[in-house]
Amino acid sequence: MTYPKRTVTCGELRESDVGKSVVLNAWVANVRDLGGLVFIDARDRYGLTQIVVEPENDPDLAKRVQELKSEYVVWFKGTVRKRSNPNPKIPTGLIEIKLEDFGVINESKLPPFEITDDVELTEETRLKYRYLDLRRPSAQKFLKVRNELYQITHRYFNENGFLEIETPFLMKSTPEGARDFLTPSRINKGTFYALPQSPQIYKQLLMIAGFDKYVQITKCFRDEDLRSDRQPEFTQIDLEMSFADENDVISLLEGFFKRVWKEILGVELSVPFPRISYDDAMAKYGSDKPDARFGMELKDITDLASKSGFNAFASVAKNGGVVCAFNAENCAKYSRKKIDELTEFAKKRGAKGLAWMKYVSGEVKSPIAKFFKDDEIKRILEILEAKDGDLILFAADEKASIAQTVLGALRLEIAKEEGLLEKVADKYSFLWVVDFPLLEYDEERKRNVALHHPFTSPRDEDIPLLETEPLKAKARAYDIVVNGAEIGGGSVRIHKTDVQAKMFAALDMSEEEARDKFGFFLEALEYGTPPHAGIALGLDRIAMSLCGTENIRDVIAFPKTTKGLSLMDGAPSRVADEQLFELGIKVLDKYAK
Ligand code: AMO
Ligand code: AMP
Repeated sequence: MTYPKRTVTCGELRESDVGKSVVLNAWVANVRDLGGLVFIDARDRYGLTQIVVEPENDPDLAKRVQELKSEYVVWFKGTVRKRSNPNPKIPTGLIEIKLEDFGVINESKLPPFEITDDVELTEETRLKYRYLDLRRPSAQKFLKVRNELYQITHRYFNENGFLEIETPFLMKSTPEGARDFLTPSRINKGTFYALPQSPQIYKQLLMIAGFDKYVQITKCFRDEDLRSDRQPEFTQIDLEMSFADENDVISLLEGFFKRVWKEILGVELSVPFPRISYDDAMAKYGSDKPDARFGMELKDITDLASKSGFNAFASVAKNGGVVCAFNAENCAKYSRKKIDELTEFAKKRGAKGLAWMKYVSGEVKSPIAKFFKDDEIKRILEILEAKDGDLILFAADEKASIAQTVLGALRLEIAKEEGLLEKVADKYSFLWVVDFPLLEYDEERKRNVALHHPFTSPRDEDIPLLETEPLKAKARAYDIVVNGAEIGGGSVRIHKTDVQAKMFAALDMSEEEARDKFGFFLEALEYGTPPHAGIALGLDRIAMSLCGTENIRDVIAFPKTTKGLSLMDGAPSRVADEQLFELGIKVLDKYAK
């Protein structure tokens, strides 16, 4: 089929184009027949252009356009003219095209929903017809921002001497953090590849191979529970540098974010970004990814509480735990019911309770006030900088992290409810979290696990701790956070075999297990490994921040649901018995159909 090819797009005509003869190839967004005039909105990914037919002057054309329906693909030929009724909301709003001729290139079934940004749709419907959902201008805008992010990434790292190198998607399974997605091998039956959770080992091998500056935009795969900021397959901007330390990586990345925010949002970020230690982040914000755009910081009152007559607090304090509190500003208005809800919220996150004090008209109202002396209450109000109308919330726990994270979550929840987050929506608070613990104890697995990954270097002075008190060792790791979202993490790596062996031992991994899982890597480390450091950025999460959305699925063309389903194509799905047979796999009876 031949048809006149477009000479312009639907987003480019301006007043200066008046008088030009043009052809558009576009989708019909809508047809409005106002009797005296017929208007057609033509849409493509560049914008909307209004097309007009005057039945009085063009009766034949007016009759013919009646066949046009939403989402038909059409060529339109006409002349640009000034609109008598300008629409200042769209860039092409000063002009319209007086239609001279048109033809239907392809028809469309009636779409299951109207393709505009105004319609309220369930996510299920949107994802099932994602190809139609993606025609919506806001969806297209998100993917355009994502594309700009790719382009700046390629340019920035190229200018800084980085090589883009691809690494395998089919690799050896080395489950460490999340679960691996496995792929069976047909040729070597009974064996499996794993899809990479990240290119971590490969990029370190590239350093050993002498490619001193590596970068890659790559997919990573993790079989973990999904959330609004997590997908089973997601994209990293992954990089690694030899003869570099944390400051080299950090300043390179600050330059990158400065460039991205300037070019995409026109926002001038000031660098260097503040750095906060993991311990301080937990103590002040109850989170290892603090949102520092607003106050209501946590305060430690363990000392004061230990001497108080409130046993729930005093006993926690005496047993080495932590009592902390924050000032929910202007929240003394909260009803008993509301506070009960907050208490439930806290208990769901592991808190034993949620104590509170309201400060109203110079008086403290609280079920626990009776346990404190007047000067203790005065001191609490001082520490928390309480003003009239404020509400103080307290958590005490023998595990500091529980008291802190519970209040950290409440701090965010209340900020959201009180509209504080909306007020700071156009602010960007970047910060680095540093001085992470190297390891943490995993209650479920009953063993130490790496907080980042097993190749993260301890601080030099902490290497001896690996053999004595490994949980006290700090890592040379850094996370980058914007507005409470962790958008990247990296570290200086271990480049010495003996330190790597000590790390595996601290992870309660026998030499045999380490050899079995990482033998090839340990061997490689022995062949002249340069000191190296790197980081991986969550590209989807950066795109979320740039687009101002809380939903990771908005910035991914074909995302999975939180249950890991692709509603459009029905993945994951059963496969034919022959396919399983070829792979030497049998599904357990209880899962077979
Ligand atoms: P890490 O596991 O911290 O580090 O991942 C780096 C960044 O990737 C993003 N991210 C995710 N985004 C969406 N969905 C997910 N399921 C998901 N998981 C992680 C986050 C995170 O900060 N190899 C190391 C990096 C290194 O040390 O160089 C790594 O993968 O934004
Ligand atoms: P109780 O003495 O158990 O009746 O508790 C009095 C108040 O203190 C209630 O509001 C509890 O929710 C709260 N509370 C009890 N234990 C804790 C705790 N560990 N941390 C914070 N609040 C607590």
